[in-house]
Amino acid sequence: MSGERRAGRDLLFCGVMAQLLDGVRVRDEIKAELDGRIGALQNHFRTPGLAVVLVGENPASAIYVRNKVKTCQELGIHSETLAPPASICTEELLALVDGLNRREEIDGILVQMPLPPQVDAKRVLDAILPDKDVDGFHPVSVGNLSIGNPGPRACTPAGVIELLKRYKIPIQGTDAVVVGRSDIVGKPMAMMLIHESATVTVCHSKTRDLEGVCARADILIAAMGRPAFLDDRHVKPGAVVIDVGMNRVTDQAEAKRIWPGDAAKLAQLGAKGSLLVGDVLPTSMASRASFYTPVPGGVGPLTIAMLMVNTVGLAEAHARQVGILLK
Ligand code: GUN
Repeated sequence: MSGERRAGRDLLFCGVMAQLLDGVRVRDEIKAELDGRIGALQNHFRTPGLAVVLVGENPASAIYVRNKVKTCQELGIHSETLAPPASICTEELLALVDGLNRREEIDGILVQMPLPPQVDAKRVLDAILPDKDVDGFHPVSVGNLSIGNPGPRACTPAGVIELLKRYKIPIQGTDAVVVGRSDIVGKPMAMMLIHESATVTVCHSKTRDLEGVCARADILIAAMGRPAFLDDRHVKPGAVVIDVGMNRVTDQAEAKRIWPGDAAKLAQLGAKGSLLVGDVLPTSMASRASFYTPVPGGVGPLTIAMLMVNTVGLAEAHARQVGILLK
C-alpha cells in the first residue's frame, strides 16, 4: 500500500465504527458450499470419514472435539472419536494411528493437541500418513504449503485467509504482522500471507519493539495465547485485527482490566465462573480497528469449517486414487 493511501486510510478510519468480521456467518457459508461435494462423494465413492483422537480428559480439548464431531454429523461426514486414557505412551498411540492409517474408510486423522507430557507429540503427528493429514501439520503438508503445492492446510490460518477474502479485505501489498510463531497458527499464517503477497513480519516473545512493529500493521494477527495482551498502543487506527486467541479469564481483577466499567461482563463472570477473551483488548479492537474478529464468534468457528474442507478434500483425493473423477 502506498504511503499516501495508507495515511488516507488511517485518517479515514479514525473514529469510524469498526466492523465486526462474523466467523459464524462465513462458517455457515463454507458448510453450505460443502453440501454438493459431500453428496457427490456419497453418490460416486463413499461417505467421507474423519477419525479424531482425544487423549485424556482436557476439558477444553473435549469441547473442541465435541464441536468437530457435531459439525461432521450436520454435514453427513462419518466421524469417530477414539479416547485413550491420559496414561497412554507414545508407542501405544503410534499403534493407534497406524491402525487408522490402514483403514480405507477413514480419510482424515486428527490427534487433538496438546498431548500428555510423556507422549512424543512430534512422532505421533509425523506418523499420520500425509494423505490423511487433515490438520496440515505433517512435514509433507508444511512443505507443500511452503512451495504452494496443493494439499491440506492448517485449519486456523486457512480460516483467517478465507474470512479476509470473503469480506473482500485486500491482502496484497499490505503490511501484515503475525504475533506468535507456533507451528499450528503463527508459522503457517505467515506463509499463507506471503502467498497472498503481503509483506509479513512475525513477532514473538523476544521481539524488541513489539508495540512499534504492531502499530505499523495494516493487518494484525494476534496468536500468542495471552489474554487481552495487545492494546491501543499496538493497533494502528484503521487496521484489520484478527484475534486468534481463546483465553479463559477467571479472575475478577483481570476481568475489570479487560472490560472496564462493564457490569454485565462481571455479572457473567460471577454466574459462569469464567469468560473467554482473545489476545487483544476488546475495547482496543472496537475503538481503533476498521475490521476485527470478536472472541468468541470470530476465528474459532472457521477452524472447524476448514477442518471439514480438508476432510472433504482428502476424501476427493482418495476417490481420484481409485479412478473416480468427481467434478
Ligand atoms: N489444538 C488446538 N488447536 C488444534 C488444531 O487445530 N488441531 C489439533 N489437532 N489440535 C489442536
